[in-house]
Amino acid sequence: MNELKHIAIIMDGNGRWAKKQGFLKRVIGHEEGAKRVREITIHASNLGVKYLTLYAFSTENWKRSDTEVGFLMKLMDRYLKNELSLFLENNVKFETIGDLSKLPKTLNETISYTKEKTAHFDGLTQVLAVNYGSKDEIIRAVNKAVSLKKEISEDEFDKLLDTKNTLPVDILIRTGGDKRLSNYLLWQVAYSELFFTNTLWPDFTKDKLNEIICEFNKIDRRFGGVK
Ligand code: IPE
Ligand code: IPE
Ligand code: MG
Repeated sequence: MNELKHIAIIMDGNGRWAKKQGFLKRVIGHEEGAKRVREITIHASNLGVKYLTLYAFSTENWKRSDTEVGFLMKLMDRYLKNELSLFLENNVKFETIGDLSKLPKTLNETISYTKEKTAHFDGLTQVLAVNYGSKDEIIRAVNKAVSLKKEISEDEFDKLLDTKNTLPVDILIRTGGDKRLSNYLLWQVAYSELFFTNTLWPDFTKDKLNEIICEFNKIDRRFGGVK
């Protein structure tokens, strides 16, 4: 068994799921995907995982139509309002990574409120990556480092990243069939175990997560050493 403290997921394939089901609108896939977020969060919490970092909206996703972007912003707002009771009942702390300054005011207020209400919990932390891009995060960290006017260590750099309050990523999962990172946690996955599944995010169940964890437990994690 490997120690499992942090799972990160690139929740991809919502649009294709909607198309496959015969829906004309991609956003129905996002709607369905949000339900899986709830299930996977509860499951990860029951498994004793400490951090679940979910890619909800990338710095590149602004390229999508205004309708889709608008829908996603409203969906995140609605999701958080609905999920507060789930967080409260399950001892789940809510955090975000990414540049929140470009988000609509209402979403920002809901994010702050949810963080405030769950700040004292010590179970799972659900970290939502919103307007998150790894390159953007690294550049913001570099600019903070430059202003310190001294050379810094890896550990000090870690503390300048948005993920400063988390632990290293043990498992990175990408659903939807593509094998790329799409600007997600480039620094943080240095020693993660990577899993790419063809399952589209709205079809991703807790059993599928269990299968991945089972594979993860068979891996000999050497971190450069010899066992
Ligand atoms: C992932 O699903 C969700 C977001 C990027 C917000 P997509 O919307 O990318 O779905 P596909 O990849 O087009 O199927
Ligand atoms: C990655 O999915 C971003 C999120 C899941 C939020 P994309 O669908 O945006 O990634 P690409 O465009 O296929 O790389
Ligand atoms: Mg996609």
